[in-house]
Amino acid sequence: MHVSTQYQVQDFKIGLTFDDVLLAPKFSDIRSRKEVSTDTLFTRKVRLNIPIVSANMDTVTEATMAIALARLGGIGVVHRFLSIEDEVAEVTKVKRSEGIVIEDPITLTAEHTVQEAKNIIKKHNIGGIVIIDQERKVLGLVTRRDIELEDNGSIKLVHVMTPRSRLVTAPPGISIEEAKQILFKNKVEKLPIVDAENRLLGLITAKDILKRKQFPLATKDDKGRLRVAAAVGVRGDFMQRAQRLLDADADIIVIDIAHGHSFHCIEAIKAIKKEFGDVEVIAGNVATSEGTTDLIKAGADAVKVGVGPGSICITRLVTGFGVPQLTAIIESSKVAEDYGVPIIADGGIRHPGDVTKAIAAGASSVMIGSLFAGTEESPGPTVLRNGIRYKLTRGMASLTATIDRRLRESSYTDSRENELVEEAIEETVPEGVEGLIPYKGRVEEVVKQLVGGLRSGMSYCGAHNLKDLKLKAQFIRITEAGYRESLPHDIERVA
Ligand code: XMP
Repeated sequence: MHVSTQYQVQDFKIGLTFDDVLLAPKFSDIRSRKEVSTDTLFTRKVRLNIPIVSANMDTVTEATMAIALARLGGIGVVHRFLSIEDEVAEVTKVKRSEGIVIEDPITLTAEHTVQEAKNIIKKHNIGGIVIIDQERKVLGLVTRRDIELEDNGSIKLVHVMTPRSRLVTAPPGISIEEAKQILFKNKVEKLPIVDAENRLLGLITAKDILKRKQFPLATKDDKGRLRVAAAVGVRGDFMQRAQRLLDADADIIVIDIAHGHSFHCIEAIKAIKKEFGDVEVIAGNVATSEGTTDLIKAGADAVKVGVGPGSICITRLVTGFGVPQLTAIIESSKVAEDYGVPIIADGGIRHPGDVTKAIAAGASSVMIGSLFAGTEESPGPTVLRNGIRYKLTRGMASLTATIDRRLRESSYTDSRENELVEEAIEETVPEGVEGLIPYKGRVEEVVKQLVGGLRSGMSYCGAHNLKDLKLKAQFIRITEAGYRESLPHDIERVA
């Protein structure tokens, strides 16, 4: 029997990933790692001081992670496996976490009680509440300290607040320097901004001013608030979700779909761009130059690249599809550069050197899942095993993530829960797994290693900035023996 095939083995393209290559050292005039700049574009318009992004996964990014990363100069993408209300609430927490002026500070009336104030202070983790009347005129201020030691929760706030007559306020348009002087001179921590009629317009806090100093690289919008991106899907309520996220001042919408080179993704980009005007939209995931081009032509302001490289992914095993990540980055970046659109390399980063390789290959930033899933700031649950602390992580196409999503979307009743779970088990072909990651402490430590590795890598290349790195980088394909040589060897490792 004659078997014909359209393929010849020699026609096959070769796909490479991070461990298949190394970067050849180049002459360097860099004296210190501190000299290099890691400034980059996240989207066409949004810049980052470090090219690090946390993944839109439910065990990686909610508000706590997004705040931590934005403070360090990167950004977080809040995942979409939440109700619209809950995703909006996560975005709001980030936008409220600090700013030059909090434009819509939390307020109560003088008739509210100490207990109500305590609840609100705890819920929003704030230091104080401005007390206003029905016309938003300022009556006083209640701080955490005013009520902390008050055991009688039913006392009205009018009796514990600092009254307007003793309050220091400032007019609108005050500069940060002026605000700093007023706060310092009067030894107060909160400065309500009021108009000529004493109406509340905003609030400046000493804590936020201090944070500006503490986090000089922070990723901020033009109002001084931390930036945050938020994910939507491509079906169902995604337009409503996008609308609500933008109303909450999300800075970027990320269209998140496993196979981004698809009709639904392209239509979703067009619809969001058409409906919401100049919103920054990231779309993905793709792994080819064709996919990248089509998303850019549809209007994407950045393209997320990576099909199957992630630590919790089994897409390649289940479907047979995917492109080794380094090749995917190189091919996508080549076409994206012509359009001035940044590439986000998503998935498969295991070592700091992989960040350097991803950027050298053309990416403008890297998205990280599992390396961050083990940190304090991730929303994943903590698990103790044999006295060792772990955090749980899972692929968003894993069986349990799929079951949770179905339960949430079906507004199930308890009596139908088992039935729905069985249905999901029956119908799902998971493309992700779940697992435990040793607890790693604060995300800042992990970011320090990643960015430290990148800076060091740049000095090995003589690259003063990331553009330089891309231009000067020379990849060498290595053999299995070369890879083994790169690992620690012939010692009994103790640290
Ligand atoms: P790392 O390697 O950083 O990768 O953990 C994170 C990225 O993995 C993708 N992701 C998935 N891919 N099945 C997949 O094939 C899944 O269930 C899944 N969940 C997440 C995603 O792009 C993420 O940013």
